Amino acid sequence: MTEVWILGGTGRSGRAIAAELLRRGIGPVLVGRDAGRLAEAAAGPRPAGAGAAGGLRTVVAGSVAETAEAIRRERPAVVVNTIGPFIETGAPLLEACRPSSHYLDLANDLAAVAATLGRSQAFTDAGRTAVTGAGFGVTATESVVVKLCEGRPAPRRVRVDMVPSLVVEAGAVGDALAGTIVEGLPGVAGGGRFQGRRYRGGRLAPARLGGDPIRLVLPDGSTVTTASMPLGELMAAQRASGAADVVAASSEAPSSPLVRAVLPAATALLAIGPVRAFARRRLAAVRFTARPKPREHSWGHAVVQWPDGSTREGWLRVGEAQAFTAAVPAEVVRRLLDGEGKPGAYTPAALFGPGLAESCGGEYRLEEPGLARRPH
Ligand SMILES: NC(=O)c1ccc[n+]([C@@H]2O[C@H](COP(=O)([O-])OP(=O)(O)OC[C@H]3O[C@@H](n4cnc5c(N)ncnc54)[C@H](OP(=O)(O)O)[C@@H]3O)[C@@H](O)[C@H]2O)c1
Repeated sequence: MTEVWILGGTGRSGRAIAAELLRRGIGPVLVGRDAGRLAEAAAGPRPAGAGAAGGLRTVVAGSVAETAEAIRRERPAVVVNTIGPFIETGAPLLEACRPSSHYLDLANDLAAVAATLGRSQAFTDAGRTAVTGAGFGVTATESVVVKLCEGRPAPRRVRVDMVPSLVVEAGAVGDALAGTIVEGLPGVAGGGRFQGRRYRGGRLAPARLGGDPIRLVLPDGSTVTTASMPLGELMAAQRASGAADVVAASSEAPSSPLVRAVLPAATALLAIGPVRAFARRRLAAVRFTARPKPREHSWGHAVVQWPDGSTREGWLRVGEAQAFTAAVPAEVVRRLLDGEGKPGAYTPAALFGPGLAESCGGEYRLEEPGLARRPH
């Protein structure tokens, strides 16, 4: 089989990835649970010159378990999983893919990224590749770390910051995103389910949600506040650098002193199962109003410090974050189909290096070595 399946083919990410694949001459199969919505997505807009006039093939599967069955039966070459929360959908779909399909997902929550990377040996043994974190946050920040650390010994400290600029479409938050936010970090070492994380001494350790706030001056001169969040970026940056102390931060983290004061009580409430289920349902139903992107570019940023005190800082500039999140999976799929991958489980730049982000429109801005500043 040489097919590429997009699970969640009717969703925002699924449709955008399909368009990026078509732009690369790859006609994906859209997989979903509703035949009508799938048919609409399969007949959707095509980029100029992309062909596929007859629409895309679709596969109807009513649940994640049915999707896993279909993968086992039809053995597509690559499966792109856009069905969150990935901590819930990842395990059964990874198991279905392992014997005969490469797997890729958009996770950027620490629990799901850690769980997939933990399956590396099983994928190596099967001769298949699993790529997790193939979206803006993980790819943009880890790419800068890989670039800054190329050919150098392991640094002591790393801080990464992700600053997405997103066009928000009107619509409901949905269960996938609500689940990712509300379910916390089940099974992640180094602290409680509703605590933040950082690396200390090479190990995951508790950290304050929204801690370590800094005001960043972006290369375009504008400013933004970032604060720590226990995202997949954290693990990707640690693995890419080998640093003992790592902090991952986001401009989307709650950084105001008031919110940070209230967070511990709110997260303590989420530890109660029924409260969590209620919060998840209510959050899933909240509607986004459409808004344009807040700034021209999205940025990945890293500051790396070595034991001798030398420091390097770098940026990756990309366009709208969701567009980058569509381009990265499509480019990873193309490379996997061309046999450029290797067996095991990886984050995107760990597998394909810093050039992957450039193939997706990213541009690096690296500052001169020797800046006298502390990363965190
Ligand atoms: N890493 C990143 O940078 C990044 C960026 C964007 C999104 N994401 C993540 O990617 C995921 C998808 O985002 P999105 O914006 O594309 O969401 P979306 O528009 O709500 O699409 C979700 C898709 O998943 C399908 N789905 C949901 N639950 C399912 C289930 N139980 N069984 C089968 N199909 C199911 C939906 O199908 P129906 O049409 O049948 O409902 C829909 O096609 C989210 O978890 C989001 O957090 C990550």
